[in-house]
Amino acid sequence: MSNEIQILKHIQSSIDNDSFVRLTFSKPVDGAGTLKKVIISLAIIKRVPQLSFVYRHKTNDMTKNHPIQEGIATIENLLKTEFQNANLFTSKADYAFERSEEKSRLKQTKATFKTAPNRGHDKEKRHLIQGADYLQQLGVLDQNGRVLKDKGDKFKQINKFVEVIEGLLKNHEMLSSGKPIKVVDMGSGKGYLTFALYDYLTTQLKLDASVAGVEVRQDLIDKCNTIAKSVGFEKLNFELGYIGDYSLDKTDILIALHACDTATDDAIAKGMAANAELIICAPCCHKQIRKSMTESEGLDSLLQHGILKERQAEIVTDAIRALIMEANGYKTKVFEFISTEHTGKNLMIIGEKKNQKTDPSKYLEEVEKLKKQFGISQHYLESLV
Ligand SMILES: C[S@@+](CC[C@H](N)C(=O)[O-])C[C@H]1O[C@@H](n2cnc3c(N)ncnc32)[C@H](O)[C@@H]1O
Repeated sequence: MSNEIQILKHIQSSIDNDSFVRLTFSKPVDGAGTLKKVIISLAIIKRVPQLSFVYRHKTNDMTKNHPIQEGIATIENLLKTEFQNANLFTSKADYAFERSEEKSRLKQTKATFKTAPNRGHDKEKRHLIQGADYLQQLGVLDQNGRVLKDKGDKFKQINKFVEVIEGLLKNHEMLSSGKPIKVVDMGSGKGYLTFALYDYLTTQLKLDASVAGVEVRQDLIDKCNTIAKSVGFEKLNFELGYIGDYSLDKTDILIALHACDTATDDAIAKGMAANAELIICAPCCHKQIRKSMTESEGLDSLLQHGILKERQAEIVTDAIRALIMEANGYKTKVFEFISTEHTGKNLMIIGEKKNQKTDPSKYLEEVEKLKKQFGISQHYLESLV
């Protein structure tokens, strides 16, 4: 059996018995060409095993994925016509193939890698939400379940949001208590995140969860309720309401994502009054504080440009929100929940109810200091709590 045939057999059998680690081709027959090396790995892409080829050119890399048999045919071609050297790494042995003139050599040595790598593809994203139906009806996916061109950012945002929820619930007693969970989404808009959250809680976590979206726009309420009904989300309801006037009784999780300006404060206040375990908000615009920033102490140069004043208003507004939540017994986290390339409105404030009683004075003192420094008479959230 020729050395070429032998190494091809080793490649095929290492794929079959899952010991394949990597195959590299080097020393191109055409030494003057741009292709210098090819590195081949085995990956699961869209649930199908594939051979992933990285073509290393002089100045750039190109990646191509092939189903296994198509990939083996490509390997055979590279071996016979394009390269003089091939190195196969498997978890059982390494094989070095060399060809010069009409002769070839195949050498077997001890395995460099003792285990085969994880086959998960780097680029394959874990998605916590399953429901293609509602995502299609909400206009995020097309009929084939692919993300629509202009909805990539939205899709990422939805998944990121559910990932945040996953992290918060992981060790939370809400998961282990077995009690029904009530969630309210204030300013639910088109309902992307509301649907995804319901899907995650009920389909993935198998919780007895009811989710309500509150929204001022009747057209969005009607549309979301129609979709919820059509996909059989029985405990997902959308209600017409104004956040500030909404009567909220016992609630476990309160969400307010991109609710406009002080609607975020209304939602936080409602959540705290309802003793919510978790309050999750992503503030939108910050007009109230921006307008009320008057005479700052020594910060004139920081606030003289519109954009800087706006950014400062955002920071001060959200810092005071977090302090007021802390004063009211919530441990807060403030972070960017998704990269700015997907949305500029990416700051998230999370409040988790603390177990111990809190002394509010130290937080309220900080609020006073900030207000004084930025010439603010009152933060809207203060007027609500
Ligand atoms: C920017 S959208 C965000 C929708 C959704 N939460 C999201 O992040 O995809 C804000 C929504 O909140 C609604 N809204 C704003 N102020 C509100 C209020 N005070 N009461 C109820 N809904 C409000 C708006 O009509 C709009 O649909």
